[in-house]
Amino acid sequence: MTLRVDTRQIIHALSDTLDLVGVDDVQHGKRVAFMAMQCCKDLNYDLPSMRTLYHAALLHDCGVSSTRVHHKLVTELDWRESQYHCLRGEQLLSSCQLFHDLPAIIRYHHTHYENMPASIDRKTALMSNLIYLVDRVDALIAQHKDVDILIARKDICRIISKYRGTFFEESLVDTFLKIADGEIFWLSLEPRHIITYCMDMGQKSQKQIVDQEIIMEVATIFAEIVDAKSTFTVEHSFGVARLSRYIGSLLCLSGAKQDMLEAAGLLHDLGKLIIPDEILEKPGPLTEEEKAIMMRHSFESYQILYRIDGFEKIARWAAFHHETLSGKGYPFHLNEDGLELEARIIAVADIFQALSQKRPYRDSLPSEKIMAIVNNMAAEGHLDHQLTSLVESHLDECLRKATCGV
Ligand SMILES: [Fe+2]
Ligand SMILES: [Fe+2]
Ligand SMILES: [Fe+2]
Repeated sequence: MTLRVDTRQIIHALSDTLDLVGVDDVQHGKRVAFMAMQCCKDLNYDLPSMRTLYHAALLHDCGVSSTRVHHKLVTELDWRESQYHCLRGEQLLSSCQLFHDLPAIIRYHHTHYENMPASIDRKTALMSNLIYLVDRVDALIAQHKDVDILIARKDICRIISKYRGTFFEESLVDTFLKIADGEIFWLSLEPRHIITYCMDMGQKSQKQIVDQEIIMEVATIFAEIVDAKSTFTVEHSFGVARLSRYIGSLLCLSGAKQDMLEAAGLLHDLGKLIIPDEILEKPGPLTEEEKAIMMRHSFESYQILYRIDGFEKIARWAAFHHETLSGKGYPFHLNEDGLELEARIIAVADIFQALSQKRPYRDSLPSEKIMAIVNNMAAEGHLDHQLTSLVESHLDECLRKATCGV
């Protein structure tokens, strides 16, 4: 499989995915990117460096999947355990060729400049430290949320100046203070202006042909972020992807279709990042309100994926996994006329994998019990009967695909 994709669209989609982790506090990465770009314009960065910095700033918190950790990071100025998400972010992004220039910058985005290892080249160290500086500005904005930003900015600038030469490199602080002197810098941080800014930046990118290996690397990063959200969802996306591909191979679908099925499996639960940790890890039945929150996730997956040109099919197959042939699924209420074979495969794989995995409210189920539930759903017209029969006739291998590595 090869697709013609726009790297920046993928990075924006990853940034939208990370925004879900913030629940109510969204656009942190986008504000950090905007502020970093204003500073680097003044620092006369060349275009390739600006591009790298914009992407690194958007993705700097990709090592955070938990809503609790996100809250700490955006509300506390200096937090002892902050290094973990820097290491995790570095590790995640280094697994994708498309992002080869970002891991080193992300690794040090919570390192005080005075403690920056001497082995880091100055350009990387400065980019990393600039992200750190504006990232902390955003945390200070959150701490001043009850005060008008044009009044709060004086206090924020005073605090940042205090760390000139220790947390932050001197010339970066000077540049920031110069830019922060203008009201426009602060007023541009409003959600509607930030969206417009990112849309404009989205126009300034070029498409390139990428092969299956790169698409899988990208999809794997998304899946790692989703599966890291909770110990109960570890490997869920990977299990769904493996099982979907296997079912596709049993149906003799083409290699390209199997690749896309695997990618859709990896991406299907992106929207789960918007679910607060407490709901996802609740050991008992969900309340009506918690169920309603839970039901948002496949729509959120769709919203993120359909905007990536070239991902249209993957978006449909991934995001329709709670639709049913009977039309009683959610949130699009499609029925058998609207559900392609591949979307039906993902739906079966999703349920099969979830039942085979331990959840906070129940243990993992044995294969006979899984099949009883899956067959019952097919009998009620929710799942595709042909697919559930196929799974039943290859039950041991399906269980292995769904659970290997868990
Ligand atoms: Fe951050
Ligand atoms: Fe789901
Ligand atoms: Fe799922």
